[in-house]
Amino acid sequence: MGHLISPSLLSCDFGNVQRDVEMLHHSEADWLHLDVMDGVFVPNISFGFPIIETVRKHTTKTLDVHLMIQHPDNYIQHFKDAGADVLTVHYEACTHLHRTIQAIRSTGMKAGVALNPHTPIDLLNDIIQDLDLVLIMSVNPGFGGQKFIRNAILKVEQTKNLIHRHGSHALVEVDGGVNLENAKELLQAGADVLVAGSFVFNSANPKDTILQLKNV
Ligand code: DX5
Ligand code: ZN
Repeated sequence: MGHLISPSLLSCDFGNVQRDVEMLHHSEADWLHLDVMDGVFVPNISFGFPIIETVRKHTTKTLDVHLMIQHPDNYIQHFKDAGADVLTVHYEACTHLHRTIQAIRSTGMKAGVALNPHTPIDLLNDIIQDLDLVLIMSVNPGFGGQKFIRNAILKVEQTKNLIHRHGSHALVEVDGGVNLENAKELLQAGADVLVAGSFVFNSANPKDTILQLKNV
C-alpha cells in the first residue's frame, strides 16, 4: 500500500468549509484530518460536532478525527454519530486507555492513539495489538504552523518496529510541521499516513500540494 495523505482542516478557511472540503474531496487526499481541541488538554480551542457533521455532508472520504481533549470517553458515540471513521485519543489524556480503545472499536470506528513529542513509544507495548493507528506528534499539539521536531523520525521507526514485533496491523501517522522537505524521510522511516495543515492550505495551489505529497 502506498502512503496516505490526510490534510488537516485546522488550516482551512472556516468561512468556506464546504468549498474547502469539496476541494479535498476532488483532490488526491485519502483522508480528512479533523483536530478537536478543548482548551484544557491543549492551550487552544478549535471546533466540535457541528463542523464534523458539515464536513461529513460534503465528502465520502475517511474522516480522521484527532481528539486533543480530556475525558474523550464521554463523547465517543457523539463522534461516531457526527461521522468520524477513525478516532484518535491522546495517550496522555487516557487513564484507562484499554477501555477507551475497546469503546471506540465497539462503535465500528477505527481506534488510534496519539503520542506527544515527549512520550516514549514503549508505553504502547501492551496495547499495540489493539490499535488501528498510532499518531506520532511531530509538534506539541494545539496549533498549526509549528516547526517540525526531527526526533519524530526516530519515533516513527521505533513505532514501526514495535508494530512488526507484535504482529499488529496498526498504521503509523505523523502530524505537525509535515512538508515536502521532511515527507520522504518520514516515509522511509515507515510512516503510512502524513497529516499536513498549513503546508497544504497556505500554499498557492492546495490541490497540487496534496498531489506532490502523494507522489513523494
Ligand atoms: C496540531 C494538530 C495538527 C495541525 C497540523 O495540534 O494536531 O493536525 O493541524 O498543522 P501543521 O501541518 O500546520 O503543522
Ligand atoms: Zn492533528
